[in-house]
Amino acid sequence: MTTKALWSGGRLSYGGDWNPEQWPPEVWRTDVALMREAGVNLVTVGVFAWSRLEPAPGRYTFDWLDRVLDLLHAAGIRAALATPTASPPPWFTHAHPDAMPVTADGARLHHGSRDTYCAAAPAYRAAARHIAATLAARYAHHPALALWHVHNEYGTICHCVHAEAAFRRWLADRHGDLDALNDAWVTSFWGQHYADWAHVGAPRATQYLGNPGQLLDFRRFWSDTLLTAYTEQRDVLRAANPAVPVTTNYVLGDWVPVDHARWAREVDLVAVDHYPDRVDGGAEEQTALAADLARGWARHGAGRPAPWLLMESAPDQIHTPGRMHTKEPGRMTRHSLAHVARGSAGVMFFQWRAPAGGAERFHSAVVSHAGADTRVFREATALGAALSRLGGTEAGRVEARVAIAYDAASGWALRHPGMPRAGLDHPGEVAAAHRALWHAGITTDLVMPGDPLDGHRLLVLPALYLTSDATADWVRRHVHAGGHLLVTWLSGVADEHARVRLGGYPGAYRDLLGVRVEEFHPLADDERAPLTSGGFGRIWSETLHLAGAEQVTAYIGGVLDGRPAVTRHRIGDARAWYVSTRPDDDTYRRLLTDAARLAGVVPTCPAAPPGVEAVRRRDGERSWLFLLNHTDRPQRVPAAGHELLTGEPVDDQVTVPPGGVAVLCEPPR
Ligand code: GAL
Repeated sequence: MTTKALWSGGRLSYGGDWNPEQWPPEVWRTDVALMREAGVNLVTVGVFAWSRLEPAPGRYTFDWLDRVLDLLHAAGIRAALATPTASPPPWFTHAHPDAMPVTADGARLHHGSRDTYCAAAPAYRAAARHIAATLAARYAHHPALALWHVHNEYGTICHCVHAEAAFRRWLADRHGDLDALNDAWVTSFWGQHYADWAHVGAPRATQYLGNPGQLLDFRRFWSDTLLTAYTEQRDVLRAANPAVPVTTNYVLGDWVPVDHARWAREVDLVAVDHYPDRVDGGAEEQTALAADLARGWARHGAGRPAPWLLMESAPDQIHTPGRMHTKEPGRMTRHSLAHVARGSAGVMFFQWRAPAGGAERFHSAVVSHAGADTRVFREATALGAALSRLGGTEAGRVEARVAIAYDAASGWALRHPGMPRAGLDHPGEVAAAHRALWHAGITTDLVMPGDPLDGHRLLVLPALYLTSDATADWVRRHVHAGGHLLVTWLSGVADEHARVRLGGYPGAYRDLLGVRVEEFHPLADDERAPLTSGGFGRIWSETLHLAGAEQVTAYIGGVLDGRPAVTRHRIGDARAWYVSTRPDDDTYRRLLTDAARLAGVVPTCPAAPPGVEAVRRRDGERSWLFLLNHTDRPQRVPAAGHELLTGEPVDDQVTVPPGGVAVLCEPPR
């Protein structure tokens, strides 16, 4: 990742997706005037506009986009110009039925939604490169162009013959020969041994459980295939004007077959879309996690702390399963500034204006169906003003001394149906650890295995199932350098091919943790395993033997009565904790707070009252303290400096309004 600057003047980006192709030119002019009123300085255009840019093969209608970009430029608003390849036009589908995606059970999908293409199909790839090159030739030097936004939320998966052929090539590259492939996939089991590459296929629907190694490799392969589809477009765009940064917006979710960390090296700026789906305080926990993940990917890609961008978020809705919840006043601003606090270079919404029809006609927008005389538009305008006061804070690096390891492939591997329990979820376990630390007021970094651990006193591995020798070595080096470690159940159990490490769980970390796990005791959904620390474990429990570690907490009752549940192993000055169950939220918060304290880590703002989120950014002597009040009462926080949103000096205490935010520029240390 090269992190080319998006803005030169120390301004935060502000805006969102704008779809002028859905409206007549009179509306464009109204929109641009409203954008100026709201303080918008960046809009994403053209995301799904392929059929409006190329209505027939080779026939282009760029006049409307010319006018739109000129209009934006005249208003001082810059454009993130998209390549429209997430929604190929009907003529493409009709000409290339073989480029439509095929599901695992063999159904071919049809035109009528979006994202209906196979990224391994040569016709699709050629058409995507071609439209990207045509856009680049026309707009690469347009003065409004700030950023190329390739595609939209790469994620469509396919099992067609093109995908299978590409999979075989990818496998040959990864494993070298069939012997190595057979070994990695343990094909001796169920007589799956391959003697001919032509017989190796995509993991299509089968009679019973599929091969875990094959499923895992297919996921990795598909992430790489989508990545190549992206880099092909990027290279075309870069060639036309190397000064313009190129990115694509990441979509977060368990279904996404993309290893975003790997992609971070290929984008000039990590850009994420974030849509929490919980209405209670969960939306705030999810926001903090998404922002910390994005920052982790940006750091992983750049090899050092780097900015990232919140490319999409919902102005006034939270989509819970089955219902759209309207955000309470102030919540949009809090979510937006939580992202900025945690490193986003700006705030972008999906979408600027709500469409009059189409599948997402009721999705949230800054300019809603009711127009601009609305609470949402007024809040968006106030947010634009707030962001203009926060320019400069982005120089500060988010302070975090606890790191949680995240690994997309461990998430994929744990979802194999042959695991000892359904619903095992590495991202879910990362979220649980992050949530516990968030409630403890401790800011965390998300790191990918192998990333530099600089200043991180405590490393947390939540169900980091896949552990290569290199990852085990990375963890060992951290501990031997005096870093503290907390490992949870299922970590280190398998190698990078999902083959079980023998000799007792948790395979790769047994010696470091001073424990040996003999048996798993997965718990039923409603089962609780009481713990001597108070509280209880959920989801999982284990028969654990001490082999150098001391017992911290034991199970109470049942077959594990009196046996260790949580242990601690002393290695020099460091401690290596093992947690063999998923503690309830409160117990987990207390446990992680203890582990952090022993490692010398305290909350970001120890005196912040419950419900106030605190994040500090520091740049040498300068620091900024973001305080987000998620309660419905004013909250007083001991702090000093200059409050940037009100412009008021703060001597020793700031009052953060109900549901509001304060950002202090603190006196030098
Ligand atoms: C995003 C997507 C947008 C729009 C939005 C709806 O994930 O990129 O195109 O669908 O969700 O909330």
